[in-house]
Amino acid sequence: MALSKEENEMLTRVGPGTPAGEMLRRYWQPIGLAAELQDKPKRRRILGEDVVMFRDDRGRVGVLTLRCMHRGTSLEFGHIENGGLRCCYHGWLYDVEGKVLETPGEPPASTFKERIRQPAYKAQELGGVVFVYMGPEPAPLLPRYDVLVKEDGVRARRARTVNCNFFQMIENSVDQNHLKWLHRTAKTPDWDDGEIDPQQFEYGILNTYTRRVAGKKWAHCNFFVMPTMNKTGNVEEGHPTEHRASSAGEVMRWRVPIDDTHSMHFTVEFGAVVDGKPVANIMKDDSAAGLCETQFGVYRWDESIGWFARGDQDRVAQESQGPIYDRTTEHLVYTDRGVILLRRLYKESIEAVKRGGDPIGVIRDPEKNRIIRLQPHEDLLD
Ligand code: FES
Ligand SMILES: [Fe+2]
Repeated sequence: MALSKEENEMLTRVGPGTPAGEMLRRYWQPIGLAAELQDKPKRRRILGEDVVMFRDDRGRVGVLTLRCMHRGTSLEFGHIENGGLRCCYHGWLYDVEGKVLETPGEPPASTFKERIRQPAYKAQELGGVVFVYMGPEPAPLLPRYDVLVKEDGVRARRARTVNCNFFQMIENSVDQNHLKWLHRTAKTPDWDDGEIDPQQFEYGILNTYTRRVAGKKWAHCNFFVMPTMNKTGNVEEGHPTEHRASSAGEVMRWRVPIDDTHSMHFTVEFGAVVDGKPVANIMKDDSAAGLCETQFGVYRWDESIGWFARGDQDRVAQESQGPIYDRTTEHLVYTDRGVILLRRLYKESIEAVKRGGDPIGVIRDPEKNRIIRLQPHEDLLD
């Protein structure tokens, strides 16, 4: 049941005009962390397009195409002033929507600047993450996921690059079967292999799996949300089925294409605070570092476990599949049902967009979007 070359292309190419690229543009995508945006613009590449993001001197966030529409100088070298971003070359000034505020030296009577615009994308911040929308109007709502909007706790974020196509990363996130092997620890031999039962739900895939530990059977549930996010967590520390992937916080992870062969990985973790005390041991907030670059094939080693460090284990598996994994040679089996379902949801969403509709999980109803509570859980079955 390997994919054809054409199917593989359809799922993995992300540039403008490609089937998956057009579908992905119908969703808000993380592009950066709010704390990165201080007094300098930041260059970024997303879905194969070069852009600059910035916070103007009134605190508003904007995303513009990278090259100045005057004569093409990169706006990453621009100055933030006078309500916008000023190109370093001849001083044209753009606001967060791409409106041309000033074209220094033009005759005062000229109306030229009213008739042109620097191409811009909608941007919004939520939970310390900057999101961008690159699709046609009307834009859907920016989903208010619990981890981004809950206020009764602390939040931590981090972002880094991964040197492969995004689709092998999201396949990893719906594949619960890899946990026991790729992330094995000293506790792993005590588990029985799980039963895995991925099901479609309103926003994507509900992933449930069971694991037997010390004669007891536990059910886990976590979420994959279209098009690139998954949510895990909520497993208490010291819980018999705890594994090193969780730390009792609730974690969301997005995999956003930079281009066909590189991706951004955004992580946001939320830990509740009860009676003034944090109840989860969550990661350190790394927002100020912004998007950290990783190198293909370079992974940290953890002497204490005699294996790659937990934070690099998934990258080892994903990057070594190749820049764009060639799925024409794979051999899918029973435990790959999550992967098969994911590909089906992508195909359905691509078809929906071709027909002029919304892909799976796009939200336009404000009532639905007060807070999107996705509650991963773990239950004792016997
Ligand atoms: S190239 Fe940007 S103002 Fe001239
Ligand atoms: Fe993993």
